Amino acid sequence: MANADTLAHVPGPRPKPLIGHTLDLLIDSYRLHGNAAKRFGPIYKVKVLGKWRVALNGADALEFILGDRDDLFSSAGGWDMLDVLFGGGLMLRDFGDHRAHRRIMQSAFRKPVMDAYRDSMATALDSLITDWPAETDFAFFPAIKTATLQMGGAVFMGLSIHDHRVPELNQAFQAEVAASLGIIRKPLPYTKIRRGMMARRYLSETFRQLIPERRKTGGDDFFSQMCLATDDDGNVWTDEEIVDHFNFLLMAAHDTTAATLTKMIWAMTTYPDWQDRMVAEVDALGDAPLDDAALDALDVTDRVFRESLRLLPPVPFIPRLAVRDFSYGGMDFPAGTSVSAMPGMVLVSPDHWTDPEVFDPDRFSPNRAEDQSHRYAWAPFGGGAHKCIGLHFATMQVKVFMALLLRRYRVERADDGPVKWQRVPIPFPKGGLPVRLIPR
Ligand code: HEM
Repeated sequence: MANADTLAHVPGPRPKPLIGHTLDLLIDSYRLHGNAAKRFGPIYKVKVLGKWRVALNGADALEFILGDRDDLFSSAGGWDMLDVLFGGGLMLRDFGDHRAHRRIMQSAFRKPVMDAYRDSMATALDSLITDWPAETDFAFFPAIKTATLQMGGAVFMGLSIHDHRVPELNQAFQAEVAASLGIIRKPLPYTKIRRGMMARRYLSETFRQLIPERRKTGGDDFFSQMCLATDDDGNVWTDEEIVDHFNFLLMAAHDTTAATLTKMIWAMTTYPDWQDRMVAEVDALGDAPLDDAALDALDVTDRVFRESLRLLPPVPFIPRLAVRDFSYGGMDFPAGTSVSAMPGMVLVSPDHWTDPEVFDPDRFSPNRAEDQSHRYAWAPFGGGAHKCIGLHFATMQVKVFMALLLRRYRVERADDGPVKWQRVPIPFPKGGLPVRLIPR
């Protein structure tokens, strides 16, 4: 591991005793990095979760780290804090091994299965939205988390949204996610990490029991597809690998999408003109089924989605571990250096975006195309070998949800104060974002 001595030549803000910059990161990660970049330039070091990490700012640095032409940066080493709970997942594998596993997983994202996910997603979400109360205030963020978890039971596991196992599975899943970035990493009694590890054992056992039947009978849900997944050479996963991949995939899919939908609802209620434009394009679909053609026509929704991800990317910093010595920006770094790629900072950089703090989805329109200023100007889904494999799945889910919601309701905010966002570990609005649904 690189340490203060081997990184002595890298500037950076002075760390607090014991906790370094961890608390600053938890309180306001953008302020920590924004201030450090202003003072020290695009390359500096901070100490987070007990480790010195070198931040390389800028879109070129993103391309260098994530594009990783020379297999220099380990994702497993970067995300080591997730290993105890999500070990064996795609993001916790590297290089040749990662490529082999990703090829197998790709077959669970083939077009015909994606169509089946889309249809079962629409059925589940429609029924869940119907259950939401009209003209009554409720907090959107917890509601969408619960709804997408219930939908996940159907789309990911092939369970009915009312299956009696769903609440227990969801509880365990939430304990696992809460533990992933707990500050205390030893599984001492009463710690989040200990609860998370127990949850992982329970979930793994539940998934494992489903495998023999799903291998035999298949199904249109994600889990069944993973049980049947093969690459072009016919390689399949062992039971253990299926459990590990599925466990990780649920985590990767869930909070990211719930946070993004919440930011979109914030945008639609803060800028009702944009909601009007979304309603108009949903109305233009009539009662048509939400197939690919219908979802492709939701161009305004797509821009609001992209702009929401720009302002609140669920993964604003991407950690890697250098497996060999390397040089960047005129500095040398030893093998073992923890490196942070900074898509979140690039997404609000004036180098790529006009008035970056302003909510302006038209910046993605073909005549402005600010996202095209650099291959990595808009990279909320990462890039290179580990680029989000669920990008299309997430886009589909967001569009299906918005179309179903706006067919029935307009959304209003139940209070008018400014909304404060917590960015890490996964973004959420403090106060939950109280809203009201007004039947149309
Ligand atoms: C708005 C929603 C989402 C965002 C912003 C997002 C973002 C990301 C990012 C930034 C990465 C790359 C991390 C890295 O390079 O270290 C990633 C990887 C991944 N995502 Fe997503 N994600 C989203 C939704 C989903 C969904 C819905 C799924 C599954 C259905 C999913 C599955 C995965 C998996 C399996 C990986 C690991 C890929 C690999 O290592 O090869 N994500 N995601």
